[in-house]
Amino acid sequence: MKKVFALLLALMMLALTGAALAEKLVVGTNAEFAPFESIGDDGKFVGFDMDLIDAIMKDAGLEYEIISIEFDALTSALASGQIDVAISAMTINDERKAYVLFSEPYFDASQKLVVVEGSPITQASDLKEGMKVGVQMGTTGDVYATDNLPVEVVRFNKVLDAILDMKNGRLDAVLTDAAPSEYYAQAVGGLVVLPEELSEEKYGIVVKLDNTELMDKINASLAKLKEDGTYEAIHKMHFAPSEE
Ligand code: ARG
Repeated sequence: MKKVFALLLALMMLALTGAALAEKLVVGTNAEFAPFESIGDDGKFVGFDMDLIDAIMKDAGLEYEIISIEFDALTSALASGQIDVAISAMTINDERKAYVLFSEPYFDASQKLVVVEGSPITQASDLKEGMKVGVQMGTTGDVYATDNLPVEVVRFNKVLDAILDMKNGRLDAVLTDAAPSEYYAQAVGGLVVLPEELSEEKYGIVVKLDNTELMDKINASLAKLKEDGTYEAIHKMHFAPSEE
């Protein structure tokens, strides 16, 4: 009898973990991009994207866990099945659409330059050959700087490392998304975000190219959260009214 019970218990546990494994979605991000995604003091993932995906998953009734990987590894992690979803302040563009399926846009963004206080650089056209601009590898800032600026582009895994290198005098400017520019410029101090907007971008959540079933759920929940005020409440928590 004992043996039967033990066997039953073992089978039940197997079934339970099997179900949990099958149902828990893995959400990938690059938690180096405040105020969208970063790791808080208590070691938890925090930021606008983290609150948004939590609300979406709750609304859709989906279990999930977050993992953080390099930004430029997110799309291949989706393709290989290492992650099911990515939310990472990822700009919707045609190049990426060839590899991943984007949700409806959830945030408007732009690229901005950060310089040290007192820098002679006040707009992109002040950047000349021989100067160095830091970017996060594989981002739209990387692509913009590579294609449009006459400078040497220096690529980093983290925006903060680029900002610190500039602060230490090794770079002339850093190019990244507007809100992280403001965030890290303030956190580090002695830096200025130039007002010029060098691009118009929109962020989307992504899934594997053929996972329309999951994307339909994400889009439906996103629409609902925009409708019922949840999106706005999350936005207010992370951005002052004047900021994007
Ligand atoms: N919006 C830019 C892009 O899509 C930068 C995103 C970087 N995100 C991050 N979590 N590091 O390329």
